[in-house]
Formats: sequence, C-alpha cells, structure tokens
Amino acid sequence: MADDAAHTEARGGGGGGIVIQDSWPGYSLDLFSYPAHYSGDLDCVYIPHGVIMDRTERLARNIMGDLGDHDIVVLCVLKGGYQFCADLVERIKALSRNSSQTIPMRVHFIRLKSYLNDQSTEDLHIIGAEDLSFLSGKAIVDTGKTMRTLLKHVQSFGPKMIKVAGLLVKRVTHNTVCLPDYVGFEIPNRFVVGYALDYNEYFRDLNHICVISERGKMKYKL
Ligand code: HPA
Ligand code: MG
Repeated sequence: MADDAAHTEARGGGGGGIVIQDSWPGYSLDLFSYPAHYSGDLDCVYIPHGVIMDRTERLARNIMGDLGDHDIVVLCVLKGGYQFCADLVERIKALSRNSSQTIPMRVHFIRLKSYLNDQSTEDLHIIGAEDLSFLSGKAIVDTGKTMRTLLKHVQSFGPKMIKVAGLLVKRVTHNTVCLPDYVGFEIPNRFVVGYALDYNEYFRDLNHICVISERGKMKYKL
C-alpha cells in the first residue's frame, strides 16, 4: 500500500493480520472504479479488492498448512461472510488441485443478524445451524460477542477441531477475548462496507472495502 508507516504486520508471520493504522486515510475514490449508483455515498476506498484477494490467497495457504488432509466442514456466516468464504474456498480448492496435499471440503451456510444501521443490537439471531464440525469464513469480527455466541453453539456439536477465519478484525478495546485463528486485516473501529459487508443491505455489490460517507448513511438509513 502507498503509506508504509500506516501498514505493519501484527505478530510474527502476520498471524494477527495486516494492521491498518487509525491514521490510514484510505485511497481516493477517483483512483479506482466502483458502481456509479454509489457516487457520493462513499468517503474512500479503504482496502482495494485486489489486496483482499492477495491476502485471502495467503490465508488459504496457512489454512492448508495447518489442516491439510483433515476432512473439513466450512461454515459460512451469511450474509456478510459470503464473498470472503467463497473466495477463501476457491483458493483452497486451487491449492488442492495443484499439490499432493488436499482438503476434502463440505460447505454449510448459516445466517446471523444483529445490526441496525451501523449499530450492533442486543438480539442475535442464528438461522440454519444443524450438523457442524468445522467453522470458517466469518467476514468481520467486531464486538466479538457474535463470534463467542456462535462458537458456543458450534462446540455443542462436539467437533474434533474448530478454527475461525475472519477477514477483518476491528480494534475495539473489548474484543481481545475471542479472536479468529486466521485474520485478514486488523482495522480501526470504523464502519466499512463492500465485499459483501452492508449498511442496511446496501453496498454488498461493491468489490472494494470502503468507508461510507455521511450522505450515504443518511440516504440508506432506516
Ligand atoms: N460494516 C458492515 N457490517 C458490520 C460492520 C461494518 O463495519 N461491523 C459489524 N458488522
Ligand atoms: Mg450487516
């Protein structure tokens, strides 16, 4: 990325993800393309799509290294996790095709909902969780409360091993208890959209992860 000082690796080997500092202003929207129907609704491109894909490729390699030859069930957390999960599974499939190490994968989908506008609400709904033995593909870990609740639920099925992959972890003071095993990026506590992350169901159709503008918030407010 352009500003070296603003991007450092957390922990050895990037285990905590690529750290995006509070001072990172994002890229000007003029430098990238995005759907015209969102013009005026965004402040900046925070993480370009290509960077997301490159980081996901590395996460897939790390996952293969740790879990290769295990039979796994991927649990994709909808809706915000669908794109990350799909791209991560795609990368793992590519690695399986191109080496002697392979992972047989089954994919399940569950749905969680706890956000209204840009605020986390108290009630968390889990929809569609049945027979689960491996967990992966949550797009964003924020309060960590959601992840804790979900993990407890998954553990009740007695899987041999549970691993969590999260594309984004937000730096909020109270989320240190429950962090994913595989992290794409650690970001400041800002509300972001795109790459399947929404604001009241809008912006899922945006490739880059972006910061929403005040105008965008007003326009799509419920
Ligand atoms: N964007 C979209 N959905 C979210 C976010 C966010 O920043 N945090 C938690 N859910
Ligand atoms: Mg949402």
